[in-house]
Amino acid sequence: MAVLAQIPSPLDEAGLDAAVAAALADIAASESLEALKSVRTAHTGEKSVLAQSNRLIGELPPADKAAAGKNIGPRRGAISKAIAQKQAELDQRREEQILLEETVDITLPVNARPVGARHPISAIQERIADFFIGLGWEIASGPEVEAEWFNFDALNFGPDHPARQMQDTFYVAGEKNLVLRTHTSPVQARTLLERGVPLYIAVPGKVFRTDALDATHTPVFHQVEGLAIDKGLTMANLIGTLDAFAKAMFGPDARTRLRPSFFPFTEPSAEMDLWFPQKKGGPGWIEWGGCGMVHPNVLRAAGIDPEVYQGFAFGMGIERTLMLRHEIADMRDMVEGDIRFSTQFGMEL
Ligand code: DAH
Repeated sequence: MAVLAQIPSPLDEAGLDAAVAAALADIAASESLEALKSVRTAHTGEKSVLAQSNRLIGELPPADKAAAGKNIGPRRGAISKAIAQKQAELDQRREEQILLEETVDITLPVNARPVGARHPISAIQERIADFFIGLGWEIASGPEVEAEWFNFDALNFGPDHPARQMQDTFYVAGEKNLVLRTHTSPVQARTLLERGVPLYIAVPGKVFRTDALDATHTPVFHQVEGLAIDKGLTMANLIGTLDAFAKAMFGPDARTRLRPSFFPFTEPSAEMDLWFPQKKGGPGWIEWGGCGMVHPNVLRAAGIDPEVYQGFAFGMGIERTLMLRHEIADMRDMVEGDIRFSTQFGMEL
């Protein structure tokens, strides 16, 4: 900005013109509202040349005062007018700029496909798998259409064993000895035969029973099977594993307890209960699954010497786990595949 070394007398028209010219040049050179603001202060403020010159009028002889006032007033008016014009011009430019920058092209194509969600059964199966992988276990799987031998015989269900009737089985029409597996336990013998020992596996998967669909039953559901076979495993290993699993699923306050039970493929066998603080009617134990020490006959069926290797197994329902975890009251919500149900869980459980 041009600076005048001296304040001209209000009677010095050439000096005053120079001040006006300097102001107009600065105004013309202002390219932004910010710049114009400082130009305005410099040329119209208290310390501007014209304001200072104006103050000198007081020192003039009375006869000169009117002429001096006429010299200053219109010049200040001219500067103010130029500033106002520039201001309007810059305002307009800014507005155009904003319109340009914020333009939305409403003709651009949009992605109209709604974002989906993973089914909570899939998500929790992966979470379960992650937990066991964290323990150093492997994930195994087996066929859903299964040989009756793996589903029952290899698991120590004798041909006339009453336990065979404990499960209501879908037999495959026209196929001899093929069933839809009634539990994930047949993967025990399959994996023992395939991978040998020592063996630590978790098997999440689909199972089938001839139940009608209602609030607490579904003919197709999911279980997770656990099997650990090694030298010297005891029930203490089983309990420790279940407790850690319960905590991973239900939080640090979760606990498990075992009650004596019966399964043909474990001896001793136990029902596993979960400590459930949110239980209706107050905290309490709630049944979560079955478990036990693997029966020697199961190991023998897979060609393993039970005198050398022992281990434990467990199995629980995944729907049940999900229902407990998220207070889902009706099984059908998990079966019907309504996206409004799944999206409540988002992509992560
Ligand atoms: N297979 C059993 C069922 O479907 C669950 C089960 C119980 C699995 C005890 C096991 C176990 O591995 O040891 O009801």
